[in-house]
Amino acid sequence: SPHLKVALLGAGTVGSQVARVLLAEKDELAMRTGVILDLVGVAVRDVSAKRDVEIPSELLTTDADSVIDAADIVVELTGGIEPARTRILRALNAGTTVVTGNKALIAAHGRELHDAAAASGSQLSYEAAVAGAIPIVRPMRDSLAGDHVTRFLGIMNGTTNFILDQMDTTGAAFDDALAEAQELGYAEADPTADVEGHDAAAKAAVLASLAFHSTFTLDDVHCQGITSVTAEDVATAAEAGYVIKLLSVGERTEEGVNLRVNPVMIPRSHVLGGVRGAYNAVFVEAENAGSLMFYGQGAGGEPTASAVLGDLVSAARAIARGAEGIPLSDHAKLPAVSMDNV
Ligand code: NDP
Ligand code: HSE
Repeated sequence: SPHLKVALLGAGTVGSQVARVLLAEKDELAMRTGVILDLVGVAVRDVSAKRDVEIPSELLTTDADSVIDAADIVVELTGGIEPARTRILRALNAGTTVVTGNKALIAAHGRELHDAAAASGSQLSYEAAVAGAIPIVRPMRDSLAGDHVTRFLGIMNGTTNFILDQMDTTGAAFDDALAEAQELGYAEADPTADVEGHDAAAKAAVLASLAFHSTFTLDDVHCQGITSVTAEDVATAAEAGYVIKLLSVGERTEEGVNLRVNPVMIPRSHVLGGVRGAYNAVFVEAENAGSLMFYGQGAGGEPTASAVLGDLVSAARAIARGAEGIPLSDHAKLPAVSMDNV
């Protein structure tokens, strides 16, 4: 089989889980893609930092440009605008495929990055940028591309949902719940982005750009976070049978597209009221499809790595297809199991 060189930028909460799968499941990924994915370099800030996953020291480097230039596919999981933007542009301009989970960057510079990809014929994908493990970017971009999305609405930030849920169910203090969310790998490197609603707003901008076939940025989203939500607010809502959730909404109106993120009281019995911990849920309404619901883990290393690896497998298949078509996975040979054996 042909080989593809994969460069990983970042080996933190998400990047380390992506590295784990690339290193441990090389044969499985080769069966699924028809190409052998070789992890050729992992760019980090500090090569001696302790990591969740053991990464061979010869792969670790602080020289991101060299690993980008050596790669067929670059996976960006460092976060933030710069130097992530310059590095992704470097890859795309060279015709290299890029997979990223960086919603802050896509929300701010998505148009520029898409244009760079289009100009060089490279691929750019970012399923992990919205709602962690939940497949929502690709459904919005591809599956609903022949429909007219009228509205999306949901919980798109795991950290704030975890904090509000902890305050509601255990009476935890805001700061303690935030510290736990950071410990569990849900929060952004600067958790202000989570609690002020900017992370949810970035995701709303990314989804809206796909849903409404236009370009929206953070500036287009009216945004209020959860920092002003008190223990008393949570208790008062609970007494009345409500829970407080940070909702993100995008809707097409006669005037244009309305995008907003703000804390909302939701009946406890409502399906969104039952979204616990760092789970997310997104409803989408489209003219022909009607109502759709997407639900799953919205944050965390392994769930987010799942979305990143999905993009990586798709990208590798597309590259392989360019050469020789998508080969069938050997899984086709697995025995069929009758219900008696289950
Ligand atoms: P972490 O902060 O855990 O990890 C960041 C990694 O990037 C670290 O390995 C760090 O190196 C490296 N890094 C940071 N800056 C640079 C730089 N300038 N040059 C080289 N390496 C650098 O972040 P996460 O893994 O949590 O998040 C990564 C991305 O994924 C972000 O864009 C985030 O928004 C997104 N994301 C995260 C989710 C989550 O649940 N955590 C969910 C969905 C998306 P070092 O280890 O040496 O410090
Ligand atoms: N910090 C983000 C969250 C990570 O809590 O939802 C997933 O995008």
